[in-house]
Amino acid sequence: MSSTAIVGLQWGDEGKGKIVDLLSDQVDLAVRCQGGANAGHTVEFGDCQFILHLVPTGVLRPDVRNLIGGGVVIDLPGLFRELSELLKKGIQWQDRLFISVSAHLVLPYHKLVEQADERARGPHRIGTTLRGIGFAYADKITRRGVRVGDLYHRDKLITRLQMGLDAHRDQIMTLPDVQLPTADVLADELQEYAEKIRPYVVNPSEFLHEEIARKSRILFEGAQGAPLDSDGGTDPYVTSSTTTGGGIRTGLGVDPRAVEDVIGVTKAYCTRVGNGPFPTELTDEIGEKLRAQGKEYGATTGRPRRCGWVDGVLLRYTSRINGTTHLAVTKLDVLDGMDVLKVCTKYTDQHGPLDLANLDGVQPEYEEWPGWSESTVGATKWSDLPANCKKYLERLSELAEAKLHIVSTGPRRDQTIRM
Ligand code: GDP
Ligand code: IMO
Ligand code: MG
Repeated sequence: MSSTAIVGLQWGDEGKGKIVDLLSDQVDLAVRCQGGANAGHTVEFGDCQFILHLVPTGVLRPDVRNLIGGGVVIDLPGLFRELSELLKKGIQWQDRLFISVSAHLVLPYHKLVEQADERARGPHRIGTTLRGIGFAYADKITRRGVRVGDLYHRDKLITRLQMGLDAHRDQIMTLPDVQLPTADVLADELQEYAEKIRPYVVNPSEFLHEEIARKSRILFEGAQGAPLDSDGGTDPYVTSSTTTGGGIRTGLGVDPRAVEDVIGVTKAYCTRVGNGPFPTELTDEIGEKLRAQGKEYGATTGRPRRCGWVDGVLLRYTSRINGTTHLAVTKLDVLDGMDVLKVCTKYTDQHGPLDLANLDGVQPEYEEWPGWSESTVGATKWSDLPANCKKYLERLSELAEAKLHIVSTGPRRDQTIRM
């Protein structure tokens, strides 16, 4: 595989970080393409645990260069907190980090207006990560955002900041005890970061074009997952970027053919954090068990994740819209000891076309698969897996219409079966 994309096939947190880390020993360049610090990608090896939010997961491999691409929205103070944590843990990134000149910035007022917006939605709130993602993208689309490149043009920067402040002021002022800085103060604060990142700023399209020409092996690291996609997802309970393979091409400005293989990642069950429909959610003791055994708490916000069975209708759909060529199934070990596993293959009362934005009330129709009593924790060989386990995995691969490529049997790098 010379250039590969890793994408989420569920509502995020499928274990993309682990898979990216695993494969990044074979690449020259790792690229984040969309989203921002709403992502939390966990990697474990030896006694170390890392949670990456904005920095590509490839940074953990000393020979891999890392690009934060054009489709990403960057919170500069957050980025520097993450980079300094990496340094503290012995990860030297200075000569290996590149930042797109066209990436938009998440500004302090984006986080405030998101807080106010979530409050105003009341029971219909999205349950966002409150990282300012939605409003940073909104300002990008409504042409008042601030790009990395704008940091070096002070007059333009001030004008854009003023536009942003003016656009969001009234809504922000609905929050108690809030004060907004002036555009000048904000620009001064940004200046400090502008100088820090100056050596790393590149045009992502030119940068990638050169990398591709010199046959670099590239790993494109997706964030979130397809049902959170702003086009194809469970609107309005989605994030604000293109979380599918398509987002890789647009955000970075690369030839669509630059991505050769697409590895879709799914858990062996399903989770969702935040609000919105989840037809196969389990609110009973099985759901509790999955949360406890799978340690299902958000890597970014610490919120408990909602748990349920694999939704095969969704899996087939998300696999197709990503052009998934290979499937990675994670957290198989969490299902050890379950008597019966269920997989939804149909919504019984679906009338008309599949519409992820209107899934409320659809009834999942399940097929049942026998579980296994043996432990699969840390298994590294397909032949070590119980027969029922193999059948279950083969069924997931069939539903995803993609070749089973990786099975993850624990959070650590070495707890993996590669097919
Ligand atoms: P991402 O956002 O897709 O990168 O996933 P997260 O890092 O947010 O959440 C996945 C969680 O599952 C992390 O805590 C991982 O360490 C953990 N994890 C990944 N693969 C496995 C696995 O195969 N088994 C178990 N038990 N945990 C896993
Ligand atoms: P990774 O990359 C899981 C969810 C939020 C919320 C919705 C909108 O770690 O898989 P946002 O802050 O993006 O405006 O929130 O999207 N969400 C995620 N859920 N994993 C993520 O990223 C997520 N990023 C956003 O919980 O429901
Ligand atoms: Mg995550």
